[in-house]
Amino acid sequence: MTTPKILVAYYSTYGTNHAVADEAARAAREAGAEVRLRRFAETAPEAVVNTQDAWKDQLAAHSDIPDLSHDDLDWADGYFFSMPTRYGNVPSQVRSFIDTCGPIWQEGKLANKVVTATTSAGNAHGGQEATILSFYTTIMHWGSLIVAPGYTDPAVGEAGGNPYGTSIKAGAFDDAGRAAVAHQSRRLTEFATRLVATA
Ligand SMILES: Cc1cc2nc3c(=O)[nH]c(=O)nc-3n(C[C@H](O)[C@H](O)[C@H](O)COP(=O)(O)O)c2cc1C
Repeated sequence: MTTPKILVAYYSTYGTNHAVADEAARAAREAGAEVRLRRFAETAPEAVVNTQDAWKDQLAAHSDIPDLSHDDLDWADGYFFSMPTRYGNVPSQVRSFIDTCGPIWQEGKLANKVVTATTSAGNAHGGQEATILSFYTTIMHWGSLIVAPGYTDPAVGEAGGNPYGTSIKAGAFDDAGRAAVAHQSRRLTEFATRLVATA
């Protein structure tokens, strides 16, 4: 059997989405995938980052995680994305990277992947659904396949019930969230496995 390749890519200012990505990577590995864990590069000016200790601390905490590259997107069969909500949309750090993907998109290298996404917000209902839905629009433009969790496992409901992707409250990634993320990651890996089996 061919081993599916899963890319877990995240952006995190304060650590929540870093923890989510770690759990997604762990669950995908456990489900039999080869996994690359990558972060979207920080694009905020250093002078701005340095105004917040929590932001500086998080940058140090994941300094060993490689920045996401075009090669990572080309390499993987499936993508698990995790990022915070910014006013009901994805962070500029994520969009900034995505906007460099025109050439590989035009080469067809972003098509036919399986993709899922999670997000966090400061509030329980601070824009998580809008963020994931707006992000999935890009995935449709790539010609890739969205693997939303739906209500395929009780863990989805126990973590707040967002069928588009697990909704996390910032700084509160608890056992219920962990179980929902693990289910979402296993489900992505399952569909990536089916994809590589028929390739
Ligand atoms: C510029 C900015 C905009 C934000 N907008 C929202 C928002 O609209 N609703 C909300 O609930 N939280 C909002 N937040 C809070 C973030 O979503 C929260 O800090 C993030 O989910 C934490 O994830 P992290 O620990 O991985 O950085 C915002 C934060 C920033 C810095």
